[in-house]
Amino acid sequence: MIGQPISRVDGPLKVAGQATYSYEEWGVGQPLYGFIAGATIGHGRITRIETARAERSAGVRRVFTHRNMPPQHDPDMSVAWGHLRALPVLKRPEIQMYGEPVALVVASTLEQARAAAALVDVTYEIEEARYDLASNVGHTFTPERLQGLFEADSVIGDLDAAFAAAPVKVDQLYTTPYVFSQPMEPHSCVAVWKGDVVTIFVGSQTLAWARSRIVATLGLEPRQVKVISRYVGGGFGSKLGVHAEALLAIIAARELQQPVKISMTRQQMFHLVGHRPASQQHVRLGADRDGRLIAFGHDVIMQASYESDYIEQTASVGRGLYAAPNRKTTHRGVKLHVKAGEDVRAPGDAPGLLAIESAMDELAHTLDLDPIELRIKNEPAQHPELGVPFSDHRLVECMREGARRFGWERRHRVPASVRDGQWLIGYGMSAATRGHYQGATSVRVQLDPSANAIVHSDMTDIGTGTYTILTQVAAEALGLPLDRVRVELGDSDFPESAGSGGSWGAANSSTATVRACRALRDKLLASVQDDARSPLRGLDPSQAVLADGRIAIGDASEALTEIIARHFPAGVDAIGSLPMMFDEPSYKETSINSYAAHFAEVRVDAVTGEIRLHSMLGVFEAGRIFNPKTARSQLIGGMTFGVGNALLEEGLLDPRSGAFMNRDLAQYLVPVHADIPAIDAILLDGFDAKANELGAKGLGELGICGAGAAVANAVFNATGVRVRDFPITLEKLLPGLPRQTA
Ligand code: MOS
Repeated sequence: MIGQPISRVDGPLKVAGQATYSYEEWGVGQPLYGFIAGATIGHGRITRIETARAERSAGVRRVFTHRNMPPQHDPDMSVAWGHLRALPVLKRPEIQMYGEPVALVVASTLEQARAAAALVDVTYEIEEARYDLASNVGHTFTPERLQGLFEADSVIGDLDAAFAAAPVKVDQLYTTPYVFSQPMEPHSCVAVWKGDVVTIFVGSQTLAWARSRIVATLGLEPRQVKVISRYVGGGFGSKLGVHAEALLAIIAARELQQPVKISMTRQQMFHLVGHRPASQQHVRLGADRDGRLIAFGHDVIMQASYESDYIEQTASVGRGLYAAPNRKTTHRGVKLHVKAGEDVRAPGDAPGLLAIESAMDELAHTLDLDPIELRIKNEPAQHPELGVPFSDHRLVECMREGARRFGWERRHRVPASVRDGQWLIGYGMSAATRGHYQGATSVRVQLDPSANAIVHSDMTDIGTGTYTILTQVAAEALGLPLDRVRVELGDSDFPESAGSGGSWGAANSSTATVRACRALRDKLLASVQDDARSPLRGLDPSQAVLADGRIAIGDASEALTEIIARHFPAGVDAIGSLPMMFDEPSYKETSINSYAAHFAEVRVDAVTGEIRLHSMLGVFEAGRIFNPKTARSQLIGGMTFGVGNALLEEGLLDPRSGAFMNRDLAQYLVPVHADIPAIDAILLDGFDAKANELGAKGLGELGICGAGAAVANAVFNATGVRVRDFPITLEKLLPGLPRQTA
């Protein structure tokens, strides 16, 4: 079962509209609807807030502002990830960013709430502010740690001296813009109180985190908050944390003693949910004339906020990618009056590789070396900064396999030398890596009296395919057909998992599921050891094989249903668990990563500068693949994000107010089907024994890693123009295009 391209078990429910997303939870009694009114300034304070007109408006039940909100605690500061704290809302008259909630209007219908929210009249005193990263890069601070995991700086050898002495150099600044997760399902919450317990239906990647953060900020007991998130319409990091709509729905529902529903609008999501911070990345590569790196430097400055200490680990990805004896990586933040950054798909790795892998392409060009050859020359024998061995390290294989399948030999080394009519044709590639992580996770597997299996975990399926792969994993481990396994997720009453984030969900929850199934098997075998009625009595349990609903040892076998009927008439269950990676020796002694190589062909209109992606191929190594269909879907989705990073996506900030001006999907451009003509993802067969007993590593976010750089490098190969200010839009390309002859 594991490794089969099974179609999503929840697919029929989804296409029939029967998969219930949080806002669609109707079985809660008559709800009220909340609508958030946001600040129209970026920094200052509310001096007057007039709610009388809104309160008199049809259907309005209550208008909440900082003046009448019940008390909230400070967020849980022991949470290392600042952006994952539940920040109090409507607590103060001070405004730290555009769009920050200033009022919540609750009414009988959504339309009434929205109409009344427009009647809340706020007067502000505007204070001086910093909104622009480029003009404030002189005001940096050094973060303590990044994501609680990474050091802000790393230094090995003497980068400055080695770089100065290097015969061949790349010394460039790359900039990346504000980028947004923008999942299809907007951030929404339905809160329902029964007695002193609130149930919230909320789009969440990680239920246990959501609960503990809410509990801290609202001063509740853990037992008082139940979180349900059965289906999640995409997260990409934006649902790792808890946002204003959840806290507001819980508070409003308690105050009004009626269920309250709140959803953000698409426009509000640009301000109420964090983005990937804009960055300036200084990359220095120093090499000898053969292309061996002597110096590797990556210094990143990015937007930070007054709200949390979020800094992406953008320079961390280069710490393990290439060998170089002298290295230095740094992260600095610039506090702006802009919403705090949050994790956006492959935090750090995605924007970091955009810069590093562009720089490697520049170095290959300077050396007149093939870009793949350059990367192979700089393969590290062990992790170049941690000094520990890698587990499976198959980057070269990804590049070679990709080159063969993509037809890399078609590429001309001289840029702007291949043309088809008005189209300049170019090929680019990029390497990629991403750390593999493990988080504490438990799963319970139960066999009912008919020997049907039920898998329970508070793990989530954010569109990734968790329901499907856990069905496969449990079916294989218990020797049952798929239709005798049911997976139930997304309920905080179920055993706690590390949720969906950091690409760790599939490996975590599958490993825990297999362990639960083994514990279940052991219980069944123990029960028949001395059972005179069992043909398995006295046989060696270590030889047991579970298949076709039976346990067999040698030639003897017995149906699961019979064992259960005699020994566990009410059914039997077992829990499987795995700890956080810090408690696993293999994660300290080994650097465990997944790898990829991306290839892109682009065509650039020599007259207009229009860039069209022609084809794209990614080759990936992430250990064992549970389901190639759901895995491929993740990867081509990630690659599509990469195309957006290279060519389209860019949040544009109004320098007068800190508002994102292009705050909808008509103006914040993401690739659509017409932009992605031919894309494929190849998965190498793998089994990384250091990761877990299933041999599986993180995969979801690997697709975006490096994908944008492959496109950018193809644009350079097509045109000879190197754009280092992402995205590569045509006004940046046009001035450098080869002159047209009449
Ligand atoms: Mo991911 S950005 O850790 O959900």
